[in-house]
Amino acid sequence: MKAWQGRFSEATHELMEKFNASIVFDKRLYKVDIKGTIAHVKMLSSIGVLTPKEKDTLVKGLEVLLKDIEAGQVEFSLADEDIHMGIERVLTERLGPVAKKMHTGRSRNDQVATDIRLYVKDAILDIQVLLMETMTTLLKLSSEHAFYMMPGYTHLQKAQPIYLSYHLNAYIHMFKRDYERLEDVLKRTDVLPLGSGALAGVNYDSDRELVAEILNFTAISSNGLDAVSDRDFIIEFQSALSLIMMHLSRLSEELIMWQTEQFSYITIGDAFTTGSSLMPQKKNPDACELIRGKTGRVFGSLMNILTVMKSLPLAYNKDMQEDKEGLFDSVDTVGMILSLLSPMLESVVFHEDKMKKDVYNSFLNATELADYLVSKDFPFREAHHLTGELVKYCIDNDIYLLDLPLDVYRSYTPLIDASVYDALDFENAIENKLSYGSTSKKSIEADFEIIKGFLESL
Ligand code: ARG
Repeated sequence: MKAWQGRFSEATHELMEKFNASIVFDKRLYKVDIKGTIAHVKMLSSIGVLTPKEKDTLVKGLEVLLKDIEAGQVEFSLADEDIHMGIERVLTERLGPVAKKMHTGRSRNDQVATDIRLYVKDAILDIQVLLMETMTTLLKLSSEHAFYMMPGYTHLQKAQPIYLSYHLNAYIHMFKRDYERLEDVLKRTDVLPLGSGALAGVNYDSDRELVAEILNFTAISSNGLDAVSDRDFIIEFQSALSLIMMHLSRLSEELIMWQTEQFSYITIGDAFTTGSSLMPQKKNPDACELIRGKTGRVFGSLMNILTVMKSLPLAYNKDMQEDKEGLFDSVDTVGMILSLLSPMLESVVFHEDKMKKDVYNSFLNATELADYLVSKDFPFREAHHLTGELVKYCIDNDIYLLDLPLDVYRSYTPLIDASVYDALDFENAIENKLSYGSTSKKSIEADFEIIKGFLESL
C-alpha cells in the first residue's frame, strides 16, 4: 500500500507507476536522505515529539539500514516511488509502527530539497579537489617546459611568438576561476530548507538551528515557500560545470590539433589514444575527442533544468523531479573527465624542436618590425603599413623577414639600419614584451608565483 493511499479508491496504473517513479535514479541519494532523516529524528526528540527511546530505535535502525544498502542488501522497487518512501517502507518493515512517526513535521518537498543540497555540497567539494589536481598537473608540465618557444595564434593563424608556459598557464587561470566559481555556488547551496514542510511551514516549533548544526549547514532558509520551490543552486552548479566543460573542450581541441602530423607539437601517450580497425598507421586522440564530445551532454543538462524550472508556479511541482538525472550525469561526467585528465596530460611529450621550427618559419616577428619603425619615429599606422608591404615582398620572394638583406629594407626606408635584425630576433620578440601579464620570462615567473600562491592557499 502506498503511503498516500488513504484518499484513493483505485490502484495506480502500472504504466503510471513506472512513469511516476524516480527510485531508479534517486536511489543514489540514500546516504544524504538517511543523514537528513537522522537529523530530523534527533530534532523531533529534542522538542518532545519523539521519546528518547523512539529516537534511539529510529537512529539505530537508520544507521543499520545505511550499512545494509551499502552492502547491497536492500531491494527497492518501482512501488516505492522514490528513495524517501523506499527508506520509510523498509524501516517500517524492520522496526514496526515507530518508523511511521519519522515523517512528522516534514514533507517530501523540504526533504528532497535538503537531500539535493547535501548532495550538491559534497559534489562541489569533490570537483574542487579534482580541479586542484588538474591545476597542479598543468603547473608541473608548464614549469618543466616553461620556455619552449611556440607560435601564438589568433584566427588559428600564426600571430606572435610565445612560451609554452604562457599557453599552459592560461588554462590554469581558467580552472582557477572555475574553482572560485564553485566556492561561490557553495555559499548559496549551503542553506537548510528542512523545516519548511510542504510549503507553509509545520505545526511544530522545529529546532531548525539544531538540524542545521547536525547537517553542517551554514544558514537556514527564512521563507519556506521559496525554500521548497528553489532549484537555483542546481542551475548555478550546472552552469559552473558547463564552464568547466567548455574549458576542458578548448584544451582538448588544442591537444587534438597539436597531435596532428601537421602540427606535431605533442605526442599523447599510447595509454590515452586508440588505433583504427582499418588503417594501421592511426593513433587517434579519442580521450580528447570524448571530452570535447561530452561537453554537449553537460550543456544539455543545464538547458534541461533551466527549461524545467521556467514557468513553474510556486511551490513544488512534479516537474521538479526532472532536476536529478542531468545533475547526476553532469557530476559523473565532469568527475570522470577530471580524473582522467591528469594522467593523460602527464603522458604528453612536447616536441620543442617542431614548435621552434614553426616559430622560425614564420612572420611571427612582423609586429616587432612595426614596433621597430615606431622607435624610428614612424606613427604606428604608417609603420604597420610599411611592414605589411615588406611582408608582401617577402611572401612574393619566398623569404622571411630575418633573411631579408639590409639594402632591401633600406630601399623601403633609410631609417632602418642593421639593428633591425636584433628587433626581429624571435627570442627578443618575446622578451621585449614589457607589459605586466605578458609572455616575457619575467612576467611568466611572476605569474607562476601567483598560481603557486593560489594553489598553496587551498
Ligand atoms: N521524488 C520526488 C522528487 O524528486 C520527491 C518529492 C515528491 N514530492 C511530492 N509532493 N510528490 O521531486
